[in-house]
Amino acid sequence: EGAKVYSANCQSCHQVNGQGLPGAFPPLTHLDKVVQAQGGRAYLIRVVLYGLQGPLTVEGKAFNGVMPPFRQLKDPEVAAVLNHILTAFAKSKAKPFTPEEVKAQRAKAYAPQEVLKSRPPVK
Ligand code: HEM
Repeated sequence: EGAKVYSANCQSCHQVNGQGLPGAFPPLTHLDKVVQAQGGRAYLIRVVLYGLQGPLTVEGKAFNGVMPPFRQLKDPEVAAVLNHILTAFAKSKAKPFTPEEVKAQRAKAYAPQEVLKSRPPVK
C-alpha cells in the first residue's frame, strides 16, 4: 500500500529509491533523523498534507523549492506512505505512523511556508 502511494504520488520528484534530484528535490534517506527529533512526526505528516515551501538544507545540500499538498490522500494512505519512505529509504525503526495520528494533523491547516517553520532543527 505505501509503496503504491509512493510510486503514484511522490516518485516523480523524489525518485525511485528516494534519492531525490540534486538542486531540485531533496532525498528522503535522512528522515530517520527527522522522525526521531522533537516535533518530527507532526512535521512529516504536515509536509504530506499541506506541502512545503522555502529554503532548507538536507544532508548539507541546499533546496528552495515547492512541494504540493496531498490533502486528498486518505489518513491510512498518508500513514502508509510515511511508513514506506521511513523503512525502505531511511532504514528507520521508528514506531509506525497510524491513521489517527494523521487525522489529528488535519485539525489545523498550515501554509507550506509554515510547515517549513515547524521543521525540527536537523541538518
Ligand atoms: C520535501 C515527502 C511528493 C517535491 C519533502 C519532504 C518530505 C517529502 C518528507 C521534507 C524533507 C525534509 O524536511 O528533510 C514527500 C512524499 C510525497 C512527496 C511522501 C508524496 C506523497 C512530492 C512531489 C514533489 C515534491 C510530487 C514535486 C512536485 C518536494 C520538494 C521538497 C520536498 C521540492 C523541498 C521543498 C523546499 O525546498 O522547501 N517531500 N514528497 N514532493 N518535496 Fe516531497
